Amino acid sequence: MKERNPTGESPEKKAAGIAAADLVQDGMVVGLGTGSTTAYTIAELGRRVDEGLDILAVVTSYQSEMLAIQTGITLTSLAEHPNLDIAIDGADQIDKGLNVIKGGGAAHTREKVVSRSAERFVVVADESKYSEQLNHYVPLEVLPYAKEYVSQQVCRIGGKPELRLAARKDGPVITDNGNFVIDASLGTIENPVVTAAILSQVAGVVEHGIFTNVDEVYIGKKDGSVEIMA
Ligand code: A5P
Repeated sequence: MKERNPTGESPEKKAAGIAAADLVQDGMVVGLGTGSTTAYTIAELGRRVDEGLDILAVVTSYQSEMLAIQTGITLTSLAEHPNLDIAIDGADQIDKGLNVIKGGGAAHTREKVVSRSAERFVVVADESKYSEQLNHYVPLEVLPYAKEYVSQQVCRIGGKPELRLAARKDGPVITDNGNFVIDASLGTIENPVVTAAILSQVAGVVEHGIFTNVDEVYIGKKDGSVEIMA
């Protein structure tokens, strides 16, 4: 499986992340996604907050919480603001119908709640994330207790489950919610809505990484331009 969070600047991710930050205006309550692309959005919003932009933000992970605090963005909670104006988040893969797979950073459960709470859900990504059809593995956040059962169910629908292991800790990745992640390779996903519904029905799956509620995608290109898919 691909290395996560390559270090170093990415002009494509930066272009997309900053362009989407322009959508945020005074008085908005903003959902802040997780990952290396959204990090550029958060940094840009922090810069604008320094210049006087007045926003509140709801985070999706400890990572986005730390970045938002570092950049001086005022945080609120979903309990206080269950209806957000906009959420901006990254993706692992995007298809032509604006269906996306998320969860490469194991944050997709909170990301999904935040995206569903938002009036407008915008995805930011570099062009390598685009694919005609989804065929990336689908991250499943799973109750530790249900690990074997969920793995069996993934096999039953023709998939290959793999428990995600931590990089600098022995044993499995533990999510911000205290759960495991099973990465389910399902081949080409012909109908993301149907596959999403099947995965949602597996007991023990807290949330899967297929998102079918994206309003716009900002794709950053190598030349610094940004294509908007809507
Ligand atoms: C976090 O769990 C993910 O959903 C990320 O938003 C997604 O993996 C995109 O990350 P990058 O922007 O780092 O590629």
